[in-house]
Amino acid sequence: MWNEIKSNIYSASVYFREFILFLVFVVVIIFLLIEKLTLSIPLILLLLVTGFIILNLIGRRRIKEIDEIKNIIASIRKSNYKSSDEIILSEHLSGLENEIKEMFEKAKNDIEYLERLQRMRSQFLANVSHELRTPIFSIQGFIETLLNGAIDDPKVNRHFLQKANQNTVNLSNLLNDLIDISMIESGEMRMSYRYFDINSFIQNILNEFIPLAEEKNIKLTFNPTKEGLQVFGDKDKLRQVLVNLLQNAIKYTDEGSIEILLAEEKKFVNISVRDTGIGIPEADLNRIFERFYRVDKARSRAVGGTGLGLAIAKHIIEAHNSKIIVQSTLGEGSIFSFMLKK
Ligand SMILES: Nc1ncnc2c1ncn2[C@@H]1O[C@H](COP(=O)(O)OP(=O)(O)OP(=O)(O)O)[C@@H](O)[C@H]1O
Ligand SMILES: [Mg+2]
Repeated sequence: MWNEIKSNIYSASVYFREFILFLVFVVVIIFLLIEKLTLSIPLILLLLVTGFIILNLIGRRRIKEIDEIKNIIASIRKSNYKSSDEIILSEHLSGLENEIKEMFEKAKNDIEYLERLQRMRSQFLANVSHELRTPIFSIQGFIETLLNGAIDDPKVNRHFLQKANQNTVNLSNLLNDLIDISMIESGEMRMSYRYFDINSFIQNILNEFIPLAEEKNIKLTFNPTKEGLQVFGDKDKLRQVLVNLLQNAIKYTDEGSIEILLAEEKKFVNISVRDTGIGIPEADLNRIFERFYRVDKARSRAVGGTGLGLAIAKHIIEAHNSKIIVQSTLGEGSIFSFMLKK
């Protein structure tokens, strides 16, 4: 009992200055109201005892509140709460309760975000190792076969070397994509924006792809817009985007045509690549921009692709404050488009 009173008084001692001021104020009021009254010993004793009792009550209340808050914080630390609704303080501490709830929600979200990041990193590493293994194993296989005697067989030696060579090209493309992705995601991708002629830019890229399209009997077309039309962007990075869109269109189109369309708007130019290819199932449309995501892994591997192209393209277009949009109908074709500032 005495110990409890001692700790109550000790806890209330933070308000000691205010308390003395209050006592002086009470004495002054008493003197003003009852002029005749002199400060007798019983009165002083009465004041002291009242003061003591008040200090004890204040201290008890303060300890109770601090304990309440301490318990809440300890429960948060021990992860006893699943949701912020379980955090409840006395009514007069509702302001503090709301602050603690918000802090709890933020910490919870931060932890979930970090866990998601950690999962993504592990998955990314697993994907990278898997993708690296495929060309390296192939190269190893061809070289071993050659060393085991095939090198002296003129019917296959050249073919095996060409295969091994193709795999080194794949490996090198994959490494370049990985470097791009890591540069983009660490924020180190340097952009260099300027105005350039969109018609000649597209025509140049198109010329490179005409032989590839012809090989597959696909018609590749482009109707230039107003001569000299300039757009604002990083020409090299945008080239990378268009190259991937065209490569995809050719890879995933078996017959028909591929068209590049330019549409001039007030402040923007809309650039689209449209194909009459296999199309993309609706359920996959949101996912094709994820790293390593391929709709049909077997087909993608057969036509060459690791699923990094659209992830890179999305980042590049977003760095231009724009968005890459896809519309597709399974079996009919796809259209990828984005806007650039004029
Ligand atoms: N024009 C298209 N028609 C049909 N499917 C497409 C088209 N473009 C992309 N896809 C689908 O989206 C996936 C992701 O495309 P993305 O360009 O990121 O990867 P990729 O072409 O497989 O490989 P990479 O571009 O890294 O060489 C592809 O694997 C394919 O399944
Ligand atoms: Mg691609």
